[in-house]
Amino acid sequence: MNIIVLGPPGAGKGTQAQRLQDTYGWPKLSTGDMLRQAIEDQTPLGQQAKEIIDSGELLPDDVMIAMIRERISQEDCREGFILDGYPRTLVQADSLADMTKELGKDIDLAIEFKVAEEIVIERISARARIENRSDDDDIEVVQNRMKVYREQTAPLIDYYQRAGLLVTIDAAAEMDAVWQALTAALAQAGNAAS
Ligand code: AP5
Ligand code: MG
Repeated sequence: MNIIVLGPPGAGKGTQAQRLQDTYGWPKLSTGDMLRQAIEDQTPLGQQAKEIIDSGELLPDDVMIAMIRERISQEDCREGFILDGYPRTLVQADSLADMTKELGKDIDLAIEFKVAEEIVIERISARARIENRSDDDDIEVVQNRMKVYREQTAPLIDYYQRAGLLVTIDAAAEMDAVWQALTAALAQAGNAAS
């Protein structure tokens, strides 16, 4: 099954996508994680990404499209994949539709993690005290990530609604309750957790 998880920064996309990977075996493709890895490895992409991530803005669409095209073509994505943090713009969504078609795949579900901004800001502030993500520790950067989400990514909710692929879950709930809602959405779409 090919799944998109959509939602604001700090909504719990990465947490739940990891649990989906562990339970169902489909790889979690997190563009944020891939970019942070490139920064750590000091690749040319990492050098480009560092400043953009630290400002809370988005990398250029063509860079992200190339990254995802290469990744979903790999063998481990044959039975399915979980996209965490992609697409984030309408251009990326259109391109994903084209590339999946070319590869003979479909997007089966787009799951919206719905949660108020006050809650995600609290979660990100809590994470900033534990983990060391450079885009978490400055409130102005966190607020810019929210603004970028509202302006550039939130329109995808309507986009996938129109495509008949959207399922919305309450991501303000506790982690296990979010997981229950997520597995119920997958079961509805024909996949039971094994
Ligand atoms: P990315 O890494 O995708 O960051 P993000 O979207 O800002 O989201 P987060 O990873 O902060 O949150 P999450 O929803 O995964 O929540 P998590 O599970 O961690 O992107 C980073 C940057 O990379 C972007 O700003 C951009 O610059 C660039 N980028 C990435 N993709 C791009 C693209 N496609 N195009 C262009 N640029 C791109 O949870 C958050 C915290 O809350 C954790 O501490 C967790 O333990 C906790 N938590 C989770 N669930 C719950 C719960 N139910 N209750 C209480 N706490 C919870
Ligand atoms: Mg994440």
